Amino acid sequence: MKSIKVSSPSNIALIKYWGKRDEKLNLPLNSSVSITLGEEMSVISELKFYEGKGNDRIVVNGRELEETEVGDYAGRVMNKIRELYGNVFLEAVSYTNFPVGAGLASSAAGIAGIVVGANEALHLNLSKREMSILSRIGSGSACRSVFGGIVIWYRGNSGEGSDSYCEQLFPPEHWPLKVIVGIVKESRKPISSRNAMLRVNTSQLLHCRLKTIEDDVMKLVETIKSRDKANFYRIVMKHSNNMHAVILDSWPPVLYLNEISFEIMQWVLENGDMAYTFDAGPNPYIICESDSVNKVVNFLSNIGAKPIVTGVGSGPKILE
Ligand code: ADP
Ligand code: DP6
Repeated sequence: MKSIKVSSPSNIALIKYWGKRDEKLNLPLNSSVSITLGEEMSVISELKFYEGKGNDRIVVNGRELEETEVGDYAGRVMNKIRELYGNVFLEAVSYTNFPVGAGLASSAAGIAGIVVGANEALHLNLSKREMSILSRIGSGSACRSVFGGIVIWYRGNSGEGSDSYCEQLFPPEHWPLKVIVGIVKESRKPISSRNAMLRVNTSQLLHCRLKTIEDDVMKLVETIKSRDKANFYRIVMKHSNNMHAVILDSWPPVLYLNEISFEIMQWVLENGDMAYTFDAGPNPYIICESDSVNKVVNFLSNIGAKPIVTGVGSGPKILE
């Protein structure tokens, strides 16, 4: 048995992944860019890899995942690892310091942690690029959590996914942005990103989104490079709205944002000098520089959204 302890972060997409060109391999319709979050939004996993045949088992915050939940996410990663290594199975115990299944990308953090941990414990000698590809097969957004800083996931064109991988664009020190996550709702989402995404082709707006999205990725990267705050915040908010517009335009639509989400959007727009973005849930991620953190925290606390202050993190870490 080989055991290892890993800390792996969640990430928040600035230009979002929504829609796939291949469901089994999680190949996306578009490239995406994200911020890897800090330790405040991480999963700590104790991983035990046993030689031989057995079922992969995962306990997250004291709840054992159903066989199908494991199979659809981490199980896909373990099947690839078995192809590389031979018979081996996983027993994992994970703890998150944020709610799971609420659209806060616990799957991304957990899966990236399993890949990074397996690479170390089983001496797989995978490059970070290969680890991002392996994580992507478990859950698309997980591939971005393999790297720290600001990360790009290239859409790629090939049918087998070798060119759909991630890279770090900027290290955390390039622009030490803060991200304040507001926990508006801790309950599970009405429908998982994976299932909701399957409906994307029913949206007419999707075609419009895809026409400009690769150019928008390049524009966003330029604003980060030059730390052009105003244009960076504008593109980030537009792209959160854009994904949610497509989700609303799909059939049946999914109502991820709620009344409090809209109140928060309004407040951010009125204040300026910051941006909001939302994944598949009502919880806001407010991005700003250090001098605005207190203001954001006070506002979120006053409206009953529990704030978690984090920032640009340095990626997964092997702990023991
Ligand atoms: P979230 O938005 O929190 O990522 P999802 O519903 O999209 O929620 O994903 C939840 C799935 O992610 C679970 O069904 C489970 O299979 C997987 N998952 C979550 N946490 C972990 C973890 N720590 N290790 C492995 N898989 C995990
Ligand atoms: C809204 O990565 O959870 O967070 O690949 O099916 O596992 P699967 O989907 P998942 O979708 C994430 C969607 C998102 C946007 C993003 O993170 O880019």
